[in-house]
Amino acid sequence: METEKGAKTFYLTTPIYYPSDNLHIGHAYTTVAADAIARFKRLQGCDVFFLTGTDEHGQKIERKAREQGKEPAEFIEPIVEGIKDLWRLLRISYDDFIRTTEQRHKEIVQRIFARLYDQGDIYKSKYEGWYCTPCETYWTDSKLEGKKCPDCGREVEWVKEEAYFLRLSKYADRMLKYIEDNPGFIQPESRRNEMVSFIKSGLEDLCVSRTTLDWGIPVPFDPGHVIYVWFDAVSNYITALGYPDKDRFLRYWPADLHLVGKEIVRFHTIIWPIMLMALGVPLPKRVFGHGWMVLESGKMSKSKGNVIDPRVLVDKYGLDAVRYFLLREIPFGADGFYSEEALINRINVDLANDLGNLLSRTTAMIEKYTCSQVPEPGPEGPEDAVLKETARKAIAGLERSMERLQLSNALASIFQLVNQSNRYIEETSPWDLHKEGQSERLATVLYNLVESLRITAVALTPFLMETPGKIWQQLGLKGDVRQQTWQDLEWGGTQAGIKICRGEPIFPRILNQEQKTGQKGKAQKVGKPRPEEAGNTITIDRFQEVDMRLVKILEAEPVQGTDRLLKLRVDLGEETRQVVAGIAQHYSPEELIGKMVVLVANLQPVRIRGVESQGMILAATKGAALSLLTVDRDLERGARIK
Ligand code: ME8
Ligand code: MG
Repeated sequence: METEKGAKTFYLTTPIYYPSDNLHIGHAYTTVAADAIARFKRLQGCDVFFLTGTDEHGQKIERKAREQGKEPAEFIEPIVEGIKDLWRLLRISYDDFIRTTEQRHKEIVQRIFARLYDQGDIYKSKYEGWYCTPCETYWTDSKLEGKKCPDCGREVEWVKEEAYFLRLSKYADRMLKYIEDNPGFIQPESRRNEMVSFIKSGLEDLCVSRTTLDWGIPVPFDPGHVIYVWFDAVSNYITALGYPDKDRFLRYWPADLHLVGKEIVRFHTIIWPIMLMALGVPLPKRVFGHGWMVLESGKMSKSKGNVIDPRVLVDKYGLDAVRYFLLREIPFGADGFYSEEALINRINVDLANDLGNLLSRTTAMIEKYTCSQVPEPGPEGPEDAVLKETARKAIAGLERSMERLQLSNALASIFQLVNQSNRYIEETSPWDLHKEGQSERLATVLYNLVESLRITAVALTPFLMETPGKIWQQLGLKGDVRQQTWQDLEWGGTQAGIKICRGEPIFPRILNQEQKTGQKGKAQKVGKPRPEEAGNTITIDRFQEVDMRLVKILEAEPVQGTDRLLKLRVDLGEETRQVVAGIAQHYSPEELIGKMVVLVANLQPVRIRGVESQGMILAATKGAALSLLTVDRDLERGARIK
C-alpha cells in the first residue's frame, strides 16, 4: 500500500508471548530478528509498523497464578513489566505492544466471535478429547504420541465439555489451494510441506471455547464459555490495528510478515487464515517459521533449569555482542545450538578481530600518517576497484538476504566488506607507502578505508545498536549514523578533511577461562579409542580413490523451489561442472562467487530436485554451523587434494 508520502508500508509482528514466566534467550531471538527486519525496512525507506505483545489468557496462566495463590491479573503484571524492560534493554523498536487483556482487544475478539457464529462458521456442540495445557492445544487420539503431546512431549489431559467449534473443515480445500497458489506464504519451504500434509491428513473443526476455566474473554452471547486462548491470541494481529475500520488497519493490513517459531506455524497458517477467510479479510502475505535455539542438553525449559537469561548475557558481554550472536550464529529457519563458547568466539573473531581491528588500524594509521585528517583521495588503483566492487556487492547481498530473511547471510555479506578491507590493508601496505613517501597513493588508501568503514557502519544500523555510532564517532563523520538513508550506502559519502578521533577498541577480546588461568586447551577426552586402534582404518590406496580437486566457483544461484539448495558452476581448469550444494542457508550466492573450494570430482552424477549434480563440494559442519573447505594459499584450479 502507498501512503501519502509514497512510502511502501511494511507491517510485521512477533508472536505475543505468554507471561507465564520471564522470557529467555529463545524469545529474544525472535524479537531481535523482527527488530532487525523492521529497522532494515525503515532504512530502505518503508513506512514500518512493528507489533509485539503478550498473550495473557488461558489455562496455563490461570494455573500458574493459582499455584502461587494469586489472581491471574495480579500474577502477570510484574512479568509483563519485565518483558517490556527486556525489550527496552535489547532496544526493540516496536511501534505498539498489545496485551490481550486490554479492552481494545477483548471487545473486537468478541465481535469477531459473534460474527462468525451469526454467519454459521461457529456452532455449538460437545468436545471430548485431549488437551495440552503448556501448548494450549487440542489433540485427537491419532495425533498423540503415547499419552504425550506430539509438540512438547508433556502429559495431556482428558477434556469433556460443551463447546463452540470453528468450521475449519469447510475451509480446508480453499486453504490448501491458497497455500499451493502462494508459494511465498509459508516459509521456509519445509514448513510449507508440513502444513500441506497436515491439511491433507484431514482438518477437523476446531474447538474454540472452554467452560472449565474463567481466565479468558467471555463468549458474548453465552457467558458460561470463554473464548479459546489461541482464537483470542491470533486476533491480536488485527485488533492492535483497530480492525475493522481504523486508519491503521486500512493502512497496514494485510501483514507483510508474521515471524513465529516453528512450533506455532500451524496456528498461523491454517487456523488464523481460515478465521480471516471467514471474515472476508485478506490473508497475511508471509508467515516465516524460524527454528529453535537449543542447548546441548536439549530444548530450554524452566523445569529443566536450563534457560538462558538474555539480561545476564547483555550484562556480561554487551548488547551488540548478544544481538550480533543471535542474528549471525544460526541460519534463520534452521535449529541451532546456543553455547557461551560460540558467543565468545563470535565476539573474538568477527567483532574484535575483523571489525574492531579494521577500525583501530585505520584510525591509528590516519593519526600517524596524516595528522588525524582524512585525506583527499587520488587516482584509483586496481585494489581500489576491487574494494569498491566488494562494497557494492556486500550491499546487494545484504538486500537480497534480507528479502529472503536470511539474517545470518545478511551480516555475513556486510562482513565481506570488512574482510576485504582488511585484505586491502595487507595488499596496499600503507606503512610502506608512508616509508616510500608515496603520499598520494597513501591518501587514497586511507580515504578508501574510512569509506568502507562508513558504509559498514550504516549497513550495521539495523542489527547493532552501539557499534555504528562508535565507528561514526571515531571516524569523525558528521551527523548521526542513525539518520543515514539507503542512498548513504553508496561509495563516496565521506568528506575529505574530517578529523578522526581515535578511541578505545570497540570490542575487546574476551579471554576464556583457560586463557585466563594460563592452562592449555581442554584435556583430550579419554576412554574412546582412536579410529586406527579400533580397526576402522583404511589404506592410503583407498583414500586415493577419491579424486578431490581445488575448483573455483564461477556462478551460484538458488535451485528453484527450495530454500536449502544452490546450483553452482565450478571451474576445474580444463572443464567446468555443475554441482548442487545444500548450503543456501549458510552462504549467499554473491559471497560464493570467486571462492576456491574442494570438489569430489569422481562421484557418480545424481539429480537433485531435477537438477544434475556432477560432484560434491566439501564442508565442515558442527551442529548448525557450516564452513566450506578452502586452501590457505593461492593455487591453480584443478590442483589435486591428497
Ligand atoms: O507460543 N528458540 O508463546 P510463547 C527459538 N503465546 N524461539 C523460541 C524459543 C527457542 N528455544 N523459545 C521460544 C506462544 N521462542 C503463544 C504465541 S502468537 C498469536 C501466540 C519464541 O511464550 C518463538 O518465537 O510460548 C516461539 O514461537 C515463541 O517464542 C513462543 O512463545
Ligand atoms: Mg511455547
